Amino acid sequence: MSLEPTLQNIRGTFDILPYDGRGEGVHEAPSRAWQHVEQVIRTVLERFNFREIRTPILEPTELIARGVGQLTDIVTKEMFAFQRGDTHYVLRPEVTAPVMRAYLQHRLDQQGSVQKLYYIGPCFRAENPQKGRYRQFHQFGVELIGTGTPEADAEVIAAMMAVYEAFGLRNLRLRINTLGDAESRPRYREALLAYLRPLADQLSPTSRQRLASNPLRILDTKDERERRLLEGAPRLIDFVNEKGRAHYEAVKVHLEAMGIAYEEDPYLVRGLDYYTHTTFELESPDLGAQRALAGGGRYDLLAVDLGHATPVPAVGFAAGMERLFIALQAQGYRFPEEPPLDAYLVSLGEAALHWALVQAQVLRKAGLRVDLDLKGRSMKAQMREANRQRARYAVIVGERELEQGRAVVRDMQSGQQQEVTLAELADFLQGAVRAV
Ligand code: HAM
Repeated sequence: MSLEPTLQNIRGTFDILPYDGRGEGVHEAPSRAWQHVEQVIRTVLERFNFREIRTPILEPTELIARGVGQLTDIVTKEMFAFQRGDTHYVLRPEVTAPVMRAYLQHRLDQQGSVQKLYYIGPCFRAENPQKGRYRQFHQFGVELIGTGTPEADAEVIAAMMAVYEAFGLRNLRLRINTLGDAESRPRYREALLAYLRPLADQLSPTSRQRLASNPLRILDTKDERERRLLEGAPRLIDFVNEKGRAHYEAVKVHLEAMGIAYEEDPYLVRGLDYYTHTTFELESPDLGAQRALAGGGRYDLLAVDLGHATPVPAVGFAAGMERLFIALQAQGYRFPEEPPLDAYLVSLGEAALHWALVQAQVLRKAGLRVDLDLKGRSMKAQMREANRQRARYAVIVGERELEQGRAVVRDMQSGQQQEVTLAELADFLQGAVRAV
């Protein structure tokens, strides 16, 4: 029987299969590789005492609009949003605003004045799909809420770097910048506008639009000609006040002392509006056009944007899982192999199949990885299946073996066979598997 494909998954989304896959709609890394990568991330972040938070994928649209910013690309162009009755829903495009919502809603400050939270899960942005950029993608990240110290910024950056280090990734480039506080930004914005307005007709259509909506984003341009135009632009750092500069200097001192290499990039602005003070981005040369593996920064005013009376100091990062996979594959990372099946039960005849079904339960309770033929196939087909499943042992039982209370146990590698009594089978397999 050959299957006919019917419906397809949505462009920019993919299935994660238990197999190495290539082709439309399949992620190259199998589910086991995802589990492994997630496990490494959890282990590293938990070493820093970050604890997992899981927030809903559906959030009120207002949370994202107010949190991420009304004029950002994410909110104006990329939200998967819909309405049912009077409620406006959005599939979360990021997790920082949801985590801050949960922090405020559940008064997590009462659980400890510094909260260290991490997450791994899907996000959604209606972007033009290409390599490293998808409509459903997965982020892992941390949010450290309740302290405004430069040490907290350094701790978050250190946690981010530690994840990539655990995978042995090389040639990463960490760029950092400061946006100053809520006062410095509008002053800088005015100065930048004064510089850019006379040059407006030399700007790209996108940048011209941003001149009206979000001029700082123009600094982010990848267009070489625009980059040259920007060389004479006022610099953000010159608008940052004494306190903001001291904060930034302290972050740099901490990073140096922790052995974390960075480059300063006065033009690093991020695509989300909630940042103040430190911002950063981590790049890998293996990613091509979508260079950013991860990004983050401090967002002390997000709580106020969400309606809280006073600022809540916080800093965090988020990273794309798919981009991590691209970098891992480019650098030849070796994922652990899938553990083999311990035993495959080959049964001949109805009574033997019934025995195999019940016996599989006994063996699994004893901690063994066991499968059996559920299709009533021929002996040859079952042995082929045992091979395909890379079973260490095939346990072969027919009517005669059942009557005699014995099974034939075949070592699939050496081909050696021996008879084992049914009563001793679990002990025998456990011993044999442990001995390997
Ligand atoms: P972001 O820079 O928008 O920041 O996203 C973080 C990371 O998510 C990116 O560096 C990239 O690796 C990945 N990513 C973003 N969009 C896509 C996409 N369409 N396809 C694949 N990967 C993507 C944030 O989301 C902030 N919440 C980070 C943060 C946390 N700031 C403070 N705390």
